[in-house]
Parts: sequence; structure tokens; C-alpha cells
Amino acid sequence: MNFHVLTLFPEMIENGMNTSITGRAIAKGLLSLEAINIRDFAFNKHQKVDDYTYGGGAGMLMQAEPVYLAYESIASHTAKKPRVVYVTPQGQVFNQNMAREMATEEDLIFLCGHYEGIDERVLEEIVTDYVSIGDYVLTGGELPAMVMMDSISRMVPGVLNNQESGETESFAGNLLEYPQYSRPEEWHGKKVPEVLMSGHHANIEKWRREQSILRTVQRRPDLLKKADLTNKEWNYVRQLRKQMKEEEEQTK
Ligand code: ADE
Repeated sequence: MNFHVLTLFPEMIENGMNTSITGRAIAKGLLSLEAINIRDFAFNKHQKVDDYTYGGGAGMLMQAEPVYLAYESIASHTAKKPRVVYVTPQGQVFNQNMAREMATEEDLIFLCGHYEGIDERVLEEIVTDYVSIGDYVLTGGELPAMVMMDSISRMVPGVLNNQESGETESFAGNLLEYPQYSRPEEWHGKKVPEVLMSGHHANIEKWRREQSILRTVQRRPDLLKKADLTNKEWNYVRQLRKQMKEEEEQTK
């Protein structure tokens, strides 16, 4: 996976991505990262990349040409026309499936906006995906781009080692991950659930699956719509919901 990031703050991208697991993967050559400073493509005296918006209104807009030239500097030497992800709160909200799917690309370009945004004409010409990381507004696209690249990187074969990967994690099958415990056996008077100490693998698996379902019902019921459950498990969901409703009534 080759990440290319068009940005006004390349050092922010480089510092973030060259750290921890993504940093290790870059050092190993499993990922590559190129942060391109859009300002290097502003061919005017002060390397200015923004201007006022036509029609008036507050704020400045990033101009089309420097963004286009920065894009061309990459697209002119990739094997095929690369996918360009514009990170914007106006995009589709990023999720695990998108991370998994984007991880299959050879090259990905992230375009990070600043100020009030980017001239629409260059977006029309180069952007293939409009993606947001959630319904809130940040000061720029660098953090969202790093969030997405981190999540995509985890899906690239070899980036996570065995200990880090773990097949059963949050969002696998649209369920949240079950709770986990390590030593000591008792901490602040709380004991590790008995079943986990039993060494009985089938029972442990059953308990973990139930806990995943319980946690999803409690914390992210919206995910359940897409979850792949057996009939027996759907009955369990109904039972949990009923229980929760009854508890709610009691506290009223
Ligand atoms: N730029 C500013 N806010 C953003 C968000 N929530 N997602 C993606 N890009 C953004």
C-alpha cells in the first residue's frame, strides 16, 4: 500500500504515521508514505494557495491549480489512475468495511482541505471518494486522513503481527468485542469471570459470543441490524432487550 497525502502540513502526517505500528510497517516496506506539500505547487511570489470566495462570504478557499498540480505529481507516475479520497465532513461516514476495501488498493491519495474548503472544480476533476470520519467538524483534513490510513493499514497483510490481529475484534460481524481480563485474578475486589479460568474452550467461546451480543445491545444497538446472528441468538437479543426495558421501568 502506497499512501500519498496532499496537504499543507506534511510534517503532521509524517510525524503521526511514522510512529507505532504504522511506523514499523513503513520501516518494513509494507506501507509507503509520501506527504506532498500543496504549497510547493503554488507558483507565485508568496507561495499563496488560498483566495477569497466568489459570491462573498467569510473565509478563504484553497485554489484549484496548486491542488491539481500536486495531484498530477503523483498520478503521472502511478500504474493506473489512483483513487483520490477527499476528507470532508460532507462525505460518506468511514467504517470498517471501507477500511477493508481500501486496503486492497495499490495507491491511495488523500486530499486534506483547510480554510473553508477547496475550489469545487478541482474536486470534480480528481476526487473519486468523499469521506468523513463522523458528524463533527475539525480544523483540517490531516487528522481524518491519519485516522483512515491507520485503520486501512491494519487491514494490509503483515502490518499486524499475530498477537495484534486477533480475528475477533470490534465490528467483526457487526458485533462489538467481548470484555477481556489479564492478571491479577482479583483487582479492587473484582474477580475475573469464572468461565475464563476454567480452561474449557467451548464454554469460553460461548461466553465470549454472548458478551459480544450483550455489549452490542447495550452500547451500539444500531449495529445489530447488520449483525449475522442465529435464531437462537436473536432470541437472546429479544430477551436482553426485554430485561433492559424492565430495568428501565423499575428505575423510573
Ligand atoms: N474535515 C473537517 N472535519 C472533518 C471530518 N469530520 N471528517 C473528515 N474530514 C473533515
